[in-house]
This record gives sequence, structure tokens and C-alpha cells, in this order.
Amino acid sequence: MPSKSYILGIESSCDDTAAAVICNGKILSNIVATQEIHTEFGGVVPELASRAHQQNILPVVHQALAKANIVKKDLSAIAFTKGPGLMGALLVGTSFAKSLAMGLDIPLISVNHMQAHILAHFIEEENKEKPKFPFIALTISGGHTQIVLVKDYFDMEIIGQTLDDAIGEAFDKSAKMLGLDYPGGPLLDEYAQKGNPHAFPFTKPKVGPMDFSFSGLKTAVLYFLERKEKENPNFIQENIADICASIQFTIVDYVMEKLKNAVKETGIKEIAIGGGVSANSGIRNAMLQAQDKHGWKVHIPKLEYCTDNAAMVAMVGQLKYEQGIFASNDIVANSRLKF
Ligand code: KG4
Ligand code: ZN
Repeated sequence: MPSKSYILGIESSCDDTAAAVICNGKILSNIVATQEIHTEFGGVVPELASRAHQQNILPVVHQALAKANIVKKDLSAIAFTKGPGLMGALLVGTSFAKSLAMGLDIPLISVNHMQAHILAHFIEEENKEKPKFPFIALTISGGHTQIVLVKDYFDMEIIGQTLDDAIGEAFDKSAKMLGLDYPGGPLLDEYAQKGNPHAFPFTKPKVGPMDFSFSGLKTAVLYFLERKEKENPNFIQENIADICASIQFTIVDYVMEKLKNAVKETGIKEIAIGGGVSANSGIRNAMLQAQDKHGWKVHIPKLEYCTDNAAMVAMVGQLKYEQGIFASNDIVANSRLKF
């Protein structure tokens, strides 16, 4: 094995076409083309996502190589997201990665998207400590809500998850009811920071101690808004900050309750969060408070490694490359891939 390895990571599981190059644990480039096309539909349209991936994948890979200051021939391996995700979207990245690896006659490495979100914590970052095994990972995004017990790089166990909507959907669907553009999570967060979190209490759905349910909250918000708008048609405009703050408070409090249960159950206080929703100011503040109050050790990576990206795929590629875990040429994408 050469002392320096360059691994290209490719991610295409949802609505971000991404490519990144890693060299011995250090990210040299991390390029993401976010597909704006879905905004006008208020959510990801799978077929449009596949088409956009096909359009974007070559320019994105070229940019990743150029930014890393290398050429194709320097690559040691190609890592790609095998799943879970949208099938048509995954097929684009999978086929591209297979062809490129075959053309360059270098190893192909398959990556589980959910494991990649967690292993993103092992990317070299200045002033960031890496988590120590075993730790608890909370993966929260538009597509995922999981609490995972991470015993080793590839030894992970899901100990809690959503039974219906993902947490990002709870933010986005609530935001949509308030007339905010998709994805509304970040906008809801912005309003929430100016409002009173206790203005309108919402009940938290009751499920297992480490599981989540968000569909009940969505209905509660809908009925609440319908009722209030009947009394006052300008209710939303006049109370937007307080409504957002109240919804956000409910979601954050719910997540923290589940994490506390996970800490109690496992006895582990080292917690690593990832996924687009870890950008949420309420979650970040609550995690930092818990660190001070309950002695937790909290890990939050740079935002570009939290949202869907290929740096995390390249990171897993690096780990598997070192261990010689390669995929065969007949590997297929799997939209429901498990750990
Ligand atoms: O990880 P990500 O970029 O893509 C996947 O869904 O996999 O996450 C996007 C999700 C969206 O639902 C978006 O609304 C949410 O993360 N999000 C936020 C915030 N920033 C992004 N939700 C709440 N507050 C935020 N600040
Ligand atoms: Zn993701």
C-alpha cells in the first residue's frame, strides 16, 4: 500500500450530489451541489433528484479532484454510498463509482450512508477531539432520526429511532404550515430565536424511551393553527416567532429527553451528533448545557460534515481501505440498507 492514499468519496443518496477527496484522514476537497429544483415542489421529488445527479456528478467530481490538486490517476480507491436513500438517486452514484473504479483499475468501496454520518466524527479537524468508543451517536436530518450505540467503527447498534417522520420533516412540515419556504427548518429556527418558547405548549408524543414519533406533533400543530386562525385570521403573522419558538422548544426538549434515557440505559456520556438538524440553535444550546450540567462529552462536527456530504463517505472509504474491505464489481445499490 502506498504511504499516501487518495480516496474519492461519492454521495448521491438524496438531493445532494457530492464528491470529496481524503488523503490519510485529511479532507482535501468537499464539493456539494445542492439541488434547488425541489424548493418549488415543497419537498424532494425522487425522479428530479436522479436527473439532477446525472447532470451534476461529473462537474462535481472534476471540482473535487481539482480542488484537491490531484488527477484521476492519483486516486487509490473510489468510495460510494450504497444506501440507504432514494433508489434512482443511489443508482447514479453507484454506477458512476463502479465505472470509474473499473476504468482506473482501483478498488471500489461501498459505504452505508448512516454509518458515514457517524464516522464523519473521525475526519481530522483542527481543535476537535474525536469521540472515544463506545459512544452514543444521534443522527438527525430530513431523512433520519436515530440513536446509535457505537462500539467500534463498524460495530453499531440502533437503540432508538423514529417510528414515522424524521425530525427534519417535523421542522419542515411545521414550517410549511406557517407559510415558510422548503426546507423550512432553518427559517423556523431563525424565528424561534426571537420568540417565547413557552407561549404555546404542545404535547410530546409517547413512544418507547429511546424512540421518536413526530407525526402526532405535526397534527397537533395543524389543529392548533386551524383553531387559532378561526379566532384571528392574522394569528400566524402576529405570532410567528412565538409559534416557532414553541414548536422548536417541544422538539428539542423531546430529543434531550430521549438522549437522557439513552445515557441512563447505556451508562455512556459521550455523545456525537450529526445530520442537518444538528445545525439547529436549540439543539446545539441544549447539548452544550447538558455537557455542563450532566457531565456529558458532546461532539458536534463542522456543519459541512453534518449535512449530506461526500467527505463522510471518503472518511469511511479511508477506514475500509486501511482494512482492505473492498466491494465486488457486481455490487448493487440498496435503498433500505441496514447497518
Ligand atoms: O442532513 P441534511 O442536509 O439532509 C438530509 O435530510 O439528509 O438535513 C436537512 C434537514 C432539513 O429537514 C432541514 O430543514 C433541517 O435539516 N435543518 C434544520 C436546520 N438546518 C437544517 N432544522 C432545524 N433547524 C435548523 N437550523
Ligand atoms: Zn443523510
